Amino acid sequence: MPDLTGKVALVTGAGGGIGRACVNALIAAGASVVVADRDSRAGRATVDGLPPDSPAVFVETDVTDADSVRAAVAAAVGTFGGLHIAHNNAGVEAAGRAVADMTDTDWHRVIDVNLTGVWQCMRAQIPAMLDSGGGSIVNTSSALGLVALPNQASYVASKHGVIGLTKAAALEYSAAGVRVNAVCPGVVRTAMIEEVAATDDTFMDKMHAMHAIGRIAEVDEVADAVLWLASPAASFVTGTALSVDGAYTAS
Ligand SMILES: NC(=O)c1ccc[n+]([C@@H]2O[C@H](COP(=O)([O-])OP(=O)(O)OC[C@H]3O[C@@H](n4cnc5c(N)ncnc54)[C@H](O)[C@@H]3O)[C@@H](O)[C@H]2O)c1
Repeated sequence: MPDLTGKVALVTGAGGGIGRACVNALIAAGASVVVADRDSRAGRATVDGLPPDSPAVFVETDVTDADSVRAAVAAAVGTFGGLHIAHNNAGVEAAGRAVADMTDTDWHRVIDVNLTGVWQCMRAQIPAMLDSGGGSIVNTSSALGLVALPNQASYVASKHGVIGLTKAAALEYSAAGVRVNAVCPGVVRTAMIEEVAATDDTFMDKMHAMHAIGRIAEVDEVADAVLWLASPAASFVTGTALSVDGAYTAS
């Protein structure tokens, strides 16, 4: 566990799944955390689930809205005195249609949150990190940022885009002290996966079989990778897309 005492972090999509696990890990490592999500009930539940008196605040945030993102960054600076770590993690699923059958809404809903949202966040976070003496950004891509899957084109394109955006930002800001990396999880056990599994007996076996390691990931396994990328232990790691996928993309 790295020591992140004195560091201020902002996590988007922090109302559940991977984002909530990262908030828990950041707090355990000693950081102060802005818990950002567009779902206020879920975001507040993340804060309520932390140990008493944890240095965390919930800020209702829509990553597709520039003013909302700026307000979340301002909350980090105003409440905790700066910004050193950002985990840009908010994301949505695709509708499950082939390219020629997708609607404008199918395309823009996913691209707006998963790709434009990450850019909106970095645009607001980088100046605050430079003012804070440097920082580390971890963007959530996916194994589907490295390989494709049918009927998921908007999601696949958004997650490939996150990796390109990550590399470009790393070239621009690493020398100034802001490292920028992406994390690429395989399938992770979240509420959505459990819901589908409850309606289809074969689903979990199929999910496990996609990963050479023979199982899907737990949220804490992704959070551990994010924490490492965010920490000084990864001080020479920037511009990379780190697979946390049980060898899903190895073949
Ligand atoms: N679960 C997986 O198997 C898996 C695998 C690879 C990558 N990912 C990625 O990991 C990230 C987190 O996924 P998860 O599985 O924990 O999902 P989740 O649905 O549990 O959490 C996503 C969170 O993002 C929030 N959100 C959605 N749109 C938002 C917006 N516009 N502004 C702010 N918050 C918003 C939701 O309210 C939710 O709390 C996503 O980017 C997802 O694409 C997930």
